[in-house]
Amino acid sequence: MNKEKKLLVSAIKNGTVIDHIPAKDLFKVIKILGLDKARQPITFGSNLVSRKIGKKAVIKISGVYFEDKDLNRIALISENVRLNVIKNYEVVEKKQVKVPERIIGIAKCVNPKCITNHENITTKFTVINKDVISLKCEYCEKITDKKHIKII
Ligand code: CTP
Ligand code: ZN
Repeated sequence: MNKEKKLLVSAIKNGTVIDHIPAKDLFKVIKILGLDKARQPITFGSNLVSRKIGKKAVIKISGVYFEDKDLNRIALISENVRLNVIKNYEVVEKKQVKVPERIIGIAKCVNPKCITNHENITTKFTVINKDVISLKCEYCEKITDKKHIKII
């Protein structure tokens, strides 16, 4: 490996690498996956140069393999992240995030009058447009579009 090719964030032996995260969205992805509460070793890189997306971030979680339903929540932020499953230092699988049919929790309803903004109720949305992503609240039926999605 020459100097230019050296990894800025060390390789991991086993676990999950989430790559090509738009740098501005790193903390949202951390929140979506609940990594702020994780106990396993996690390494991050941010504002790394990527020819494809400008500035990217990467998260490496050792010893953890996520369920697809958890990873797919990342689609709320970016569909272009790359998920890599690492076993014994090798990338054994690459997965893409898929926009889920429903989003339970994690996003906030845009409607200030919605019951979920006043009582301790888990938000529930039906994804009505998978291309630009808009969420229809299952309580008040108001639409939260991608621009207005706030992660709780
Ligand atoms: N990686 C890692 N530890 C390993 C193997 C890979 O942290 N033991 C990371 C790499 O640093 C990279 C990602 O996992 O961020 C994917 O690895 P690889 O497929 O080898 O890289 P690329 O070919 O650059 O993949 P892509 O084009 O999907 O970015
Ligand atoms: Zn609502």
